[in-house]
Amino acid sequence: MAHVSDQIADDILGYLKSHETKSLLRFITCGSVDDGKSTLIGRLLYESKMIFEDQLAALEADSKRVGTQGQEIDFALLVDGLAAEREQGITIDVAYRFFSTDRRKFIVADTPGHEQYTRNMATGASTAEVAILMIDARKGILTQTRRHSFIVSLLGIKHVVLAVNKLDIVDYDRAVYDEIVEAYAEFAKPLDFTSVTPIPMSALRGDNITDKSGHTPWYNGPTLMAYLETVEVADSAETTPFRMPVQWVNRPDLDFRGFAGMIAGGTVRPGDRVKALPSSRESTVKSIVTMGGDLNEAVAGQSVTITLNDEIDVSRGDVLCAADDPAPAADQFQATILWMNENEMLPGRTYLMKTGATTAQATVAAPKHAIDVNTMESLAAHTLALNEIGVCNLNLDRTIAFDAYKDNRDMGGFILIDRLSNETVGVGMIDFALRRASNIHRQALVIDKTARAESKGQKPVMLWFTGLSGSGKSTIANALEQKLHAMGRHTYILDGDNVRHGLNKDLGFTDADRVENIRRVSEVGKLMVDAGLLTLVSFISPFRSERRMARQMMEEGEFVEVHVDTPLAVAEERDVKGLYKKARRGEIKNFTGIDSPYEPPVDPEIRLDTTNQTPDEAADTLLAFLREKGYLA
Ligand code: ADX
Repeated sequence: MAHVSDQIADDILGYLKSHETKSLLRFITCGSVDDGKSTLIGRLLYESKMIFEDQLAALEADSKRVGTQGQEIDFALLVDGLAAEREQGITIDVAYRFFSTDRRKFIVADTPGHEQYTRNMATGASTAEVAILMIDARKGILTQTRRHSFIVSLLGIKHVVLAVNKLDIVDYDRAVYDEIVEAYAEFAKPLDFTSVTPIPMSALRGDNITDKSGHTPWYNGPTLMAYLETVEVADSAETTPFRMPVQWVNRPDLDFRGFAGMIAGGTVRPGDRVKALPSSRESTVKSIVTMGGDLNEAVAGQSVTITLNDEIDVSRGDVLCAADDPAPAADQFQATILWMNENEMLPGRTYLMKTGATTAQATVAAPKHAIDVNTMESLAAHTLALNEIGVCNLNLDRTIAFDAYKDNRDMGGFILIDRLSNETVGVGMIDFALRRASNIHRQALVIDKTARAESKGQKPVMLWFTGLSGSGKSTIANALEQKLHAMGRHTYILDGDNVRHGLNKDLGFTDADRVENIRRVSEVGKLMVDAGLLTLVSFISPFRSERRMARQMMEEGEFVEVHVDTPLAVAEERDVKGLYKKARRGEIKNFTGIDSPYEPPVDPEIRLDTTNQTPDEAADTLLAFLREKGYLA
């Protein structure tokens, strides 16, 4: 490195030691290249002497060759050069740069500023403690400033620097600066920042970056670097109760059982009383074990292994909490969600929800409203598209321990993952638990499924027919039901066309509506199986995800997937309802197989090929299956 303190040469161990004990500040810069963001980051790196000798030489040469600053160094070239490098890769969400001064270490998250990069910005903001909002003094507060402020506030950043940049261009005019500062204070009132620190600067000229500028004698505040070196970010160790999600249970032998994880809040000491959630069992801390020996105290951010004085049941994904201030536990939440995927959110679909240590299955309901990121206004919404933010209820398959995001970012933040593609599709912040679940109890009924099935002399099942429109699902289901009926069996058919005339008449054929269509029908089908019926469900049900959800709702052996595997060309040729012709003419939108996808089953229990079987033969195949597997016994 070019000019890092001479201590490195003289006393490398001393340097490393002091470096280790320096505190770390994570911050994010918000703005675009035009606002001087790259110049600012470049200058911070340069002034903290984190530029390599060869980089500096190249920078000087490039500045003269292609720079915009005459004989001066163009710092933007440094950062943008790095940016160009990273863009050659596939896509890196956020560029993190590291630098340090004698007092602190810094990680700066550098994200693009445009609206289409909202998700990148949220990623960078989610771990930052301070945000620098870049303002071009000539332009003042822009829509983009408002958007960035809102996202920064949403992601729980409490400290903001209003970097009023390019002041040299307006002749260091105090009135210009004051006006921007005032306007911002007014705007930011509802955003709940703990501190907003305005700094007049010119990143290009170096005014108030590390050295106090002679051009702004009217400014008495800190330089940007002085601010970054000294800002007190609320230490979650002091302000929040103890929390540690258990990442894994360390049991090398019978004598040792430790719970390893990163402390997500508060402080812990040997002797402290802790409660394990969701089991609610209590014990006291015996020891706090680390690679470097046992500790008398550990705080938020540290990774440790905790041993307890009692053998209580704690497993991976549980949370150890302060016994006198435990985290609440719930299975339904209201959350604010930022959608990150090109495919829109599908209300009713089940996604994987990953919090600090736990993964649960979460069904997302339709948004109560979306939020306009530029104006913070509530908007009506049925779904969320890429980069959109909305408030939704979530329903989990189990109870998890949590804190509201505003109280603890680690305990209240989560990501949503698509179960089939494994992509991260959203990030969310828990607002609060919904009490509904705990107020509604299950009524125990004396006559149960087994009793009802026995009186009918059959083993209830859900026969799930899936396939293209016109593939023959309903025809085969009808033929099968007639045969079963003739045998005195108790049956029912749930058919797409029919259910869409009643229960689901509010639904159309968008992806979101199809997901909801199948969710409702699965629930109804489940009730029918509970009633003891041989239940034939005949829906296109184009998505694997929802068919899998239906399967998971049922007990082992109760769900039989029947793929009515008729090629599109054949279904279209038959075109019994004349719908394919209409779809080809563009008169019906989102028609399955034409302009809406069909995801065939990968591993159905039964595949019916209707090109070499009549509907009656197909029904016989199914009947034989039901007999053989004991459903008719
Ligand atoms: S699903 O995709 O949501 O499972 P469902 O089985 O309920 O579909 O309804 C499919 C039936 O609706 C088709 O058999 C057809 O008669 C009719 N239909 C009308 N418009 C469409 C469309 N755009 N795509 C598919 N089917 C449609």
